[in-house]
Order: sequence, then C-alpha cells, then structure tokens
Amino acid sequence: MRGRIIMKAGVLGTGHYAPEKILTNKDLEKIVDTTDEWIRTRTGIEERRIASDDENTSDMALKAAEDALKEADLTAEELDLILVATVTPDQPFPTVSCILQEKLGATKAAAMDISAACAGFMYGMITAKQFIESGDYKHILIVGAEKLSKITDWEDRNTCVLFGDGAGAAVMGPVSDGKGVLSFELGADGSGGKHLAQQDEHIIMNGREVFKFAVRQMPESSVKVVEKAGLAKEDVDYLIPHQANIRIMEAARQRLGIDESKMAVNVNHYGNTSAASIPIALSEAVKKGKINDNDLVVLVGFGGGLTWGAVALRWGK
Ligand code: ACO
Repeated sequence: MRGRIIMKAGVLGTGHYAPEKILTNKDLEKIVDTTDEWIRTRTGIEERRIASDDENTSDMALKAAEDALKEADLTAEELDLILVATVTPDQPFPTVSCILQEKLGATKAAAMDISAACAGFMYGMITAKQFIESGDYKHILIVGAEKLSKITDWEDRNTCVLFGDGAGAAVMGPVSDGKGVLSFELGADGSGGKHLAQQDEHIIMNGREVFKFAVRQMPESSVKVVEKAGLAKEDVDYLIPHQANIRIMEAARQRLGIDESKMAVNVNHYGNTSAASIPIALSEAVKKGKINDNDLVVLVGFGGGLTWGAVALRWGK
C-alpha cells in the first residue's frame, strides 16, 4: 500500500492594516494620570492606533485579508477555510469570519472565529496546519483582528495605555519539502484566567501577575519549539513575539541569545493589538524584507485565558 504524502503547511502571503487615528502617550496624559515617560519605560509603547466609530473589527480584517491574498497571489474563491482570531468581534454572531467570507466573496470557504485572546493567531495557525497537512483543505486564511478600544476602560490608567486596534492576516497552504511549520506548542492555564479578563464591558488586568507569567512563558515556548524542530537556538534567523511589552519581548530574545536586529518590534507604534499583533509584525517584517527564503522564523505569543502558543517555521513556499 502506498503511504499518504504528508504536505507541510507554510505561509503563502501576509497582510496587515492599522486604522488612521494615532493616539500618542501625550494624548493619554490628558485623559488619565500618566506620563509619556512612565509608559515608554515600562512598556516601550509610544503610540497606538484607534479605529473610528464606524470602523468595526470585520472592516479591519477585510483590509488585512485582501493584502494577504494579494501577496499570496490567490483569489478569495480559492479559499477553503477562513479563521478569524478575535476577542472583539463585531457582535457574538454572525462571526467576523462569516462577515469576512461574504465581503471577500469567498463562496467556497467554511468560516469560524477562534477565541484565545492574544494567542489567538497562534491557535489559528496550528488549526490551519492540521487541515492542510491532512490533505483536506488547501488554502486557509487566518486573520487576527481587534477593536480593543471598544472594551478599554478609558478611566483605568493600568490598562488603557497598553492597547490598540488593528488587523493582520496570513494565507497558509502546502509548501515544498523542508519548508513550512516544523514544530509548534500550544497551551492553556485556566487557573490564571482571573488575571486578565473582560468583566462587564471592560478589560481588567493584574499587570504584575500577567507580567510574571509572560516573562516565563514566552522564552520557554520559544526555546521549546526550536528544540522540538531538532534545531539549536543559534539557528533562529528571526523572532516574532507578541507585541505586549518590550521588556517581555526582550526576555524571549535574550533567552534565544539572538541579536536585537533579529526581533520584530512595532509595539512602540501599535501598542498591544492582541490577536492582531503577531500577524501585523509578521506582515511588516515580510514587506520590509527582514525575512528571507529558508530563514528559521519563530513566532510566539501569550494571552488571556491564560493561553500561549509558538511555532518554528522554515520560511518559503
Ligand atoms: N501611568 C503611571 N503610573 C501607572 C500607570 C500608568 N499608566 N499604570 C500603573 N501605574 C502605577 C501603578 O498604580 C503602580 O503604583 P503603586 O505602586 O502606587 O500601586 C506603579 O505604577 C507600578 O506598577 P507595577 O505594576 O509595578 O508596574 P510594572 O513595572 O509591572 O508595569 C505593566 C506595569 C506595564 C502593566 C506590566 O505589569 C505589564 O506589562 N504586565 C503585562 C501586561 C500585559 O502584557 N497584558 C496583556 C496580556 S495579552 C492579552 O491577552 C490582552
């Protein structure tokens, strides 16, 4: 009996979108008792983007998706599945993925949302990988999109300085031998859920507890996926960490022992965009030519739930 050929799943195209309106730290000084200096030194954030009143999560998702399809040189009709990672959907249902399916004209695609907070895009990538490597689906669009400004408590200085809006996307599909997802890690710890949650309308957070969890988890998961792929830390060419706080990102970079130039950093411009942060950083890195064919790329994130996820990826088609 002939064995089934196992296709590796990789990234065929990336895209991103950020709303026009910029909210700087100086602007925030007028809203809550904070300073530009405090925000910069504790988080690395200088400004964030805020969606307009009539701009919803699905609108931002659409722009990022169109960008990713263009880069992948695919049409929406060629999509088999749409996954949207978000904790700020337009409404509970219809899902953002269904709204997106209609707006894109992706008539042959199934569609569902994934809820894993800031790790949502990692959960999406790994879900897509399973469908592609089983041979059941060929082209899958994964979008991370958030309008966190609508659940931000603009009177709480502990949280309102951290978040921003935006969307990022990737199209995944089968890639040639040796390329694509080499290894992954996904995890959850519901016992830590109380540290970061949506209560009534707003985000509530125990920053110190989330920080402790993140500085342990991000470095640990980054190293784990490299080891699972049978590779060494020195082999990593580019690191794309969840953009929550530069100090947490630095912990992951230092644990991998890689140079500053090999880590994607845009937290200064966008703040924490939750599920959108990793795909925005990935798309920007691709468009700036920071990632080359055959590079070993590590993507790693953590979020409310608590959840986490990481992927080691050999770049290229
Ligand atoms: N401006 C000025 N002072 C502030 C502000 C602010 N915006 N926010 C908090 N403070 C004060 C606090 O009240 C505290 O004062 P106190 O000591 O009198 O109580 C003081 O600053 C120091 O607070 P710390 O918590 O010690 O500050 P820390 O250095 O830990 O930084 C931060 C706080 C940035 C929130 C950090 O803990 C952090 O980044 N945590 C992780 C947060 C995170 O990543 N969340 C997103 C997770 S992903 C997701 O799923 C959405």
